[in-house]
Amino acid sequence: MSVSANDFKDVMAQVATTVTVVTAKSSDGPIGLTVSAFTSVSVDPPIVLVCIDKVVGTIEAMLEAPGFTVNMMPEDSEDEAMLFATHGADRFGSTKWQDARSPEAGPVLASAFAYFACATVKRTEIGDHWVIFGEVTAVGLPKDGSMPLVWHDRGFAKVAR
Ligand SMILES: Cc1cc2nc3c(=O)[nH]c(=O)nc-3n(C[C@H](O)[C@H](O)[C@H](O)COP(=O)(O)O)c2cc1C
Repeated sequence: MSVSANDFKDVMAQVATTVTVVTAKSSDGPIGLTVSAFTSVSVDPPIVLVCIDKVVGTIEAMLEAPGFTVNMMPEDSEDEAMLFATHGADRFGSTKWQDARSPEAGPVLASAFAYFACATVKRTEIGDHWVIFGEVTAVGLPKDGSMPLVWHDRGFAKVAR
């Protein structure tokens, strides 16, 4: 029995995820997009994955890049998360960032409360997305007291304690 795209998306909308901005280096400068489809894959060696829609404008550059950085976004970063999801926006124009300690990884955003800097080890095309696997080569440990921005039910949410 097949499942409609709308039913699939309605159920996925109930999965709460930490909002990340995945960045990389390209020949035209830094690139990045807001991503909720991020997960841990392996601890030894440390590997994570991100899923990126084939229609994303920077997908070719993301695939060509030697690595990427997963920036964990804090609860007060809704505007930045939307900036990195807005077509045609100047995403790095007013964004503070610095190079990752790993040469192959992407920019580390000043607003990120933690990050994984990665070297790409595998790229898999599946359905309408690319899955990019990265071996973690450096981390930014969480800042004290920071809380994540969450994506749930097609909107931003915060973690309650
Ligand atoms: C909260 C949030 C989570 C998102 N998660 C993903 C994701 O996991 N994968 C993806 O490909 N796009 C995701 N997007 C959409 C991309 O950020 C957006 O399509 C991309 O930045 C468009 O880039 P373009 O204008 O260069 O095509 C998400 C957007 C938002 C607001």
